[in-house]
Amino acid sequence: MDLFNVYPLYDVTPVKAKGAYVWDKNNTKYLDLYGGHGVISIGHTHPEYVATLTEQLIKMGFYSNSIQNPLQQELARKLGAVSGCENYNLFLCNSGAEANENALKLASFKTGKSRIVAFKNSFHGRTSAAVAATDNKKINAPLNKQQKTTFLPLNAIGLVRQELQEGDVAAVIVEGIQGVGGLDEGTTEFFKALQEVCNKKEVLLILDEIQSGYGRSGQFFAFQHHNIQPDIITTAKGMGNGFPIGGTLIHKKHKAKFGMLGTTFGGNHLACTAAISVLDVIKKEQLLANVNEVNRYFLEEIKSISKVKKVKGKGLMLGLEFDFEVGELRKKLIFDKHIFTGGSNNKNLLRILPPLNINKEHIAIFIKALKSLLDE
Ligand SMILES: Cc1ncc(COP(=O)(O)O)c(C=O)c1O
Repeated sequence: MDLFNVYPLYDVTPVKAKGAYVWDKNNTKYLDLYGGHGVISIGHTHPEYVATLTEQLIKMGFYSNSIQNPLQQELARKLGAVSGCENYNLFLCNSGAEANENALKLASFKTGKSRIVAFKNSFHGRTSAAVAATDNKKINAPLNKQQKTTFLPLNAIGLVRQELQEGDVAAVIVEGIQGVGGLDEGTTEFFKALQEVCNKKEVLLILDEIQSGYGRSGQFFAFQHHNIQPDIITTAKGMGNGFPIGGTLIHKKHKAKFGMLGTTFGGNHLACTAAISVLDVIKKEQLLANVNEVNRYFLEEIKSISKVKKVKGKGLMLGLEFDFEVGELRKKLIFDKHIFTGGSNNKNLLRILPPLNINKEHIAIFIKALKSLLDE
């Protein structure tokens, strides 16, 4: 059997990793400023994470959602405390797309409606409703296109009001900060008005924090920069530091019913252990403070590179915009300088999503490498 060939690959084969570094099969060391699509939150192979996961694996890896699993309650309690979202209940699943799929389905159950309002350049995953809310025709099959979705420009609150006036919208879904789209984000004024109009029209507001959550923006969730309380928050990526886990956080005003949502693997013992360990480390190592400190250093240092036309994003979810396409630059960063970075739908944008415990020395290495490649 061969692989179903859907991924264009860089010719690098990582075999081990530690903190912000990855080593390939030839023992070449790479600085990881991409965290495998923003997944690595507390650093690769964090010793506490490895120890607790190993211990749990020896005890018990999995049982289904038909038995008591106190690790789920522990995770929910810790997530509420660390994120400040005590007013929410947690549904556990396995990926970002699934977290959004459940959020959208829940909004449809609650409202009895089916149209979704999403935003231009959005990315919400590849499952049925999530991909239908993703502004990319190429990854939507005819099956997905049956879902009614309206895409509006970010920050166009007047157009949102107009659509919600129709009375057939179940949910508005928006990223805290757009990831794949290229680091655009709503203004505080927009997010506040969005919450207000959704409440007024009884449409559920879903904040997709799959990439921008878990401290990456310098707040636990990026929407917390805007002081709003969405109906539903979705999370994945940094939640398990590489162990697959996703979560749909549902405001307590929306009640659960047995059987409404469900999954075989979601919230299993190993996944919960990974996610609990991530939260413990985020708290113990004060990673949010580190994100903000390293962000300030990054923003200061990047000013010395005149070819960077704009810096987008917040915290350690950053995009460097150039007036040329960055494909070649990314390749040179990997193969000449041994630094991983990311791309986006915006071909002129270099995406930076490092582990949240990265330090200023790592950023200095990147700035020096970038300067030398850009000949500055
Ligand atoms: C904002 C956002 N939502 C949803 C997803 C989908 O997550 P997953 O790939 O885990 O299904 C992603 C993945 O990149 C994302 O960035």
